[in-house]
Amino acid sequence: MIDSLLNYKLQPLEKYQVVKMKQTINKGFSVSNFPRTRLRRNRMSDFSRKLVAENNLSINDLIYPIFVTYGSNTKEEIESMPGIYRFSLDLLPKEIERISSLEIPAIALFPKIEKSLKNPNGSEALNKNNLICKAIKISKKVNSNLGVICDVALDPFTDHGHDGIIFNNQIDNDKTLEILCNQALVQAEAGCDIIAPSDMMDGRVGFIRDTLDNQGFINVQIMSYAVKYASAFYGPFRDAVGSTLNLSNKSKKSYQMDPGNSDEAIREIALDINEGADMFIVKPGMPYLDIIYKIKQEFKIPLYAYQVSGEYSMIKGAIDNGWFDEQKIIFESLIAFKRAGCNGIITYFAPYVANLLKGQNS
Ligand code: PBG
Repeated sequence: MIDSLLNYKLQPLEKYQVVKMKQTINKGFSVSNFPRTRLRRNRMSDFSRKLVAENNLSINDLIYPIFVTYGSNTKEEIESMPGIYRFSLDLLPKEIERISSLEIPAIALFPKIEKSLKNPNGSEALNKNNLICKAIKISKKVNSNLGVICDVALDPFTDHGHDGIIFNNQIDNDKTLEILCNQALVQAEAGCDIIAPSDMMDGRVGFIRDTLDNQGFINVQIMSYAVKYASAFYGPFRDAVGSTLNLSNKSKKSYQMDPGNSDEAIREIALDINEGADMFIVKPGMPYLDIIYKIKQEFKIPLYAYQVSGEYSMIKGAIDNGWFDEQKIIFESLIAFKRAGCNGIITYFAPYVANLLKGQNS
């Protein structure tokens, strides 16, 4: 065996092999064949695996979604998302402190509002004293350095559960835009750092940017849910914000993207770049890694994946059943986003991951 390997090694290179070698060097690939080249050599020891690592997950990559609700002393677990809670506002400071101490850079706030406050136009979204505005103020008061991101979309506030208002039996794009601009303004006034339009109406980023600029909020950022698919993976989230039951027409396909489409994602991103978005989200995450990759190849922009509620629930459910190793599956699911080209990830696993990464660094 050893003899034959040595013979193999000592064979002179033929001319065509030299040419091939030059070609591969130019492409940046290693040229020697086995046994000179053994890719396992770099993988053998822990230190070496660290040195050759192409992507790393850091606490700086994480954004944590937090659900808030009415009432007091309420921390209710979301049935379809084990380990994720809705907090009443009096308990929010403690949660903000926990996230701050983990050094997670930003949170995304989502409200579950009372049924009685919902109506066809989602007008509670424009109330300067609504749940979300109060939550923003609390968060900023507890830690002004923690970035606060807020959805701009009407679905937590409409009684039908759609992201836009209904006119002539359709989700009316342009009428919805006006409301979204005011919703963004109300949130910016409350102290929100990043406005995240998640409704997929055409033109909303530009309208919101102009509205914010005209009112002097030139430094409020826009993180656009630029590429958002009409996905079944949002199921548990709708449970979390209470927008499931009243959804008369369950499909959001007239505004969210068809899961089979890919070129269309590039157009969505291009439009939002033009309209002045600062950051860009692809949502859901794991089923759309090809889209993330494609976008990052095309545009060098700050790009984020939303590992959505359904992804969380699937992974968490399997962990709780003992089918997956918790730490390994969570890290693998998140590093995939970095590899595909994301700058960061919105994930319900953020505190779990931050806790582990913090332990490693200290
Ligand atoms: C609202 C919104 C949704 C999510 C974030 N913002 C649901 C939807 O569009 O139906 C989903 C997040 C998740 O599933 O974790 N427009």
